[in-house]
Amino acid sequence: YADSEQASVAVARQIAQLIAQRAAEQRPCVLGLATGSTPTRLYEELVRLHREEGVSFRHVVTFNLDEYFPMPPDSLQSYVRFMHEYLFDHLDIPAGQIHIPDGTVPQEQVAEFCRRYEEQIREAGGIDLQILGIGRTGHIGFNEPGSGANSRTRLITLDHITRTDAASDFYGEENVPRRAITMGVGTILEARQVALLAWGEGKAAVVKRMVEGEMTDSVPATYLQKHPNVQVVLDEAAGAELT
Ligand code: F6R
Repeated sequence: YADSEQASVAVARQIAQLIAQRAAEQRPCVLGLATGSTPTRLYEELVRLHREEGVSFRHVVTFNLDEYFPMPPDSLQSYVRFMHEYLFDHLDIPAGQIHIPDGTVPQEQVAEFCRRYEEQIREAGGIDLQILGIGRTGHIGFNEPGSGANSRTRLITLDHITRTDAASDFYGEENVPRRAITMGVGTILEARQVALLAWGEGKAAVVKRMVEGEMTDSVPATYLQKHPNVQVVLDEAAGAELT
């Protein structure tokens, strides 16, 4: 796309079509969602489609990719707070259909929480469309380098580069949590459809590695090459290094 504006509007339209299609089949639409700067325009457009064009989210079920750990939900940097501010508070989605990894679970219960998160995805019928951003380390969700293709929802240690990139949100790198709960690469690959979004020249090098590089756990996003139904949605700057 010429720019992230046009790209975001196109992805929002695609989500609205998917919701309509699932409604026609009388089945809930299960969306996997990301946070960060990349999907904010997409979420704004979904809110507009709801307000101005009557798109209803009453039968939509959502699963977010990740959350910092530990992280209270009302904290400024919490992904729970982010999702409510940008999206959920402005839609008609029932609260019980929203799932976000819980950054307040006691550490000894995290493994059980992650197992249950995977089970909830399965019980919902699996993810119809997973929205992804990409980190400069090649992470999807918070699957940092070293994450294997079969990894599942779990507690992970964040890469130094990821913590540097988050530093401004936390008023200094020393305040960025060292860990996060994330869906695994294997969890993401089970979605029926994936749309990975990337904007700006800062993502161009990692986009090239993801699309044209060899599949490797040092760039976990390369595992998307195995997925039968994945779109990589780019603005011109993010696609500039593709051959
Ligand atoms: C966020 C997530 C991350 C981000 C990635 C890019 O839920 O899973 O993988 O998508 O770090 O972040 P932004 O969009 O801020 O460049």
